[in-house]
Amino acid sequence: MKVDVLLGLQWGDEGKGKVVDVLTPRYDVVARFQGGPNAGHTLEFEGEKYILRSIPSGIFQGDKVNIIGNGVVLDPALFKAEAEALEQSGHCLKERLRISKKAHLILPTHRLLDAAYEAAKGDAKVGTTGKGIGPTYTDKVSRNGIRVGDMLHGFNEKYAAAKARHESILKSLNYQYDLAEAEQRWMEGIEYLKQFALVDSEHEINHLLDNGKSILCEGAQGTMLDVDFGSYPFVTSSNTICAGACTGLGVAPNRIGEVYGIFKAYCTRVGSGPFPTELFDETGEQICTLGHEFGSVTGRKRRCGWIDLVALKYAVMIDGVTRLIMMKSDVLDSFETIKACVAYRINGEEIDYFPYDINENVEPLYVELPGWMTDMTHMQSEDEFPEEFNAYLSFLEEQLGVPIKIVSVGPDRAQTIERYL
Ligand code: GDP
Ligand code: IMO
Ligand code: MG
Repeated sequence: MKVDVLLGLQWGDEGKGKVVDVLTPRYDVVARFQGGPNAGHTLEFEGEKYILRSIPSGIFQGDKVNIIGNGVVLDPALFKAEAEALEQSGHCLKERLRISKKAHLILPTHRLLDAAYEAAKGDAKVGTTGKGIGPTYTDKVSRNGIRVGDMLHGFNEKYAAAKARHESILKSLNYQYDLAEAEQRWMEGIEYLKQFALVDSEHEINHLLDNGKSILCEGAQGTMLDVDFGSYPFVTSSNTICAGACTGLGVAPNRIGEVYGIFKAYCTRVGSGPFPTELFDETGEQICTLGHEFGSVTGRKRRCGWIDLVALKYAVMIDGVTRLIMMKSDVLDSFETIKACVAYRINGEEIDYFPYDINENVEPLYVELPGWMTDMTHMQSEDEFPEEFNAYLSFLEEQLGVPIKIVSVGPDRAQTIERYL
């Protein structure tokens, strides 16, 4: 068997959580491969709404196994809060969730370092989620990290050494803090975490595949936030791209099957950094209001703009997308005209590829398409799609060279339409 991968093609918040939940009944296992509690994956069904940060989005569909892979960074205190809230609402996790021993731990001092580095950057700050993601991955790569498996051997010494190292950096940055309460909650999180199945997830996953089990890998963030290929340095600190599933789970490249690339019918971004199609006018406000574009983790207002096909084509290429999923098309239901960016003009030159340098000199060039002006939120099948909507889908498919297999017309699990092309 091969694994299928589902990942965001834009700057995150495309609706990954919703679609993983929808697709889970087709799989035996769902596995997160990177990121951490910087993610906020929203699921809505039967009048309930859940926001998952570290726990895979396959947790609500029957008895599926969910795995937190080695590529993920885990904050025990936030994990405990998330898991306890789920348990309280009747969703039993302990039997169904496995955590890689090789996943790295986010320490309370990593969060302080995140805040201190951001403060030191001033206007050039990344606008991180403040969850300690960057400093934790930095420690991983510089071979100073603490892993989940370390909880079982020599933990206190490792923790004390890491804390001392972090505190000396915080001191050099003149950063004031009070660690006591956060540290207490974190230690409680460590004890809580020990109740879960801590596994060698690379062995487990390959064993499952060898035994004919199907696995869906769930990405966090989006391709344009990838540390190598995103809008660096305004990115997250992990490989959010398809290859991240290989390194974040221990899956060989030749075991990747379908790659689901998910995008919004328009585009959003939260935090700082370039965003060529960003709208600063009433249309941008309208998209923000209709799409409820506020961060699920930070509550920050998301920047909104038209779809950027230059960036999307780049993401499709890097990820090897085989199936596209378009989300939040209902947000555009009342627009007379819809724009799609098909090229950039930079210093008088027109280009249709994603360049090294994305700055204020990048002018988006648009194609205008007629809107469908129809409420699509109750539609059940592609047969009901208005002509203009089909034209929009065909245009995107032609531009991106990959079929759009699923269309989402609302936040609920039920508001999902599969296309049988
Ligand atoms: P993720 O991080 O990729 O899982 O996405 P988020 O959960 O951060 O953001 C997506 C938001 O859009 C959530 O509030 C979802 O409930 C909502 N959503 C998902 N699909 C749709 C859709 O098709 N239409 C509308 N209106 N909202 C959607
Ligand atoms: P999901 O999985 C949207 C953004 C932050 C910031 C940058 C770096 O819900 O799509 P970090 O805390 O990772 O160091 O922040 O990345 N960011 C996200 N934006 N969705 C996310 O996750 C994000 N995770 C991080 O806003 O610009
Ligand atoms: Mg999100």
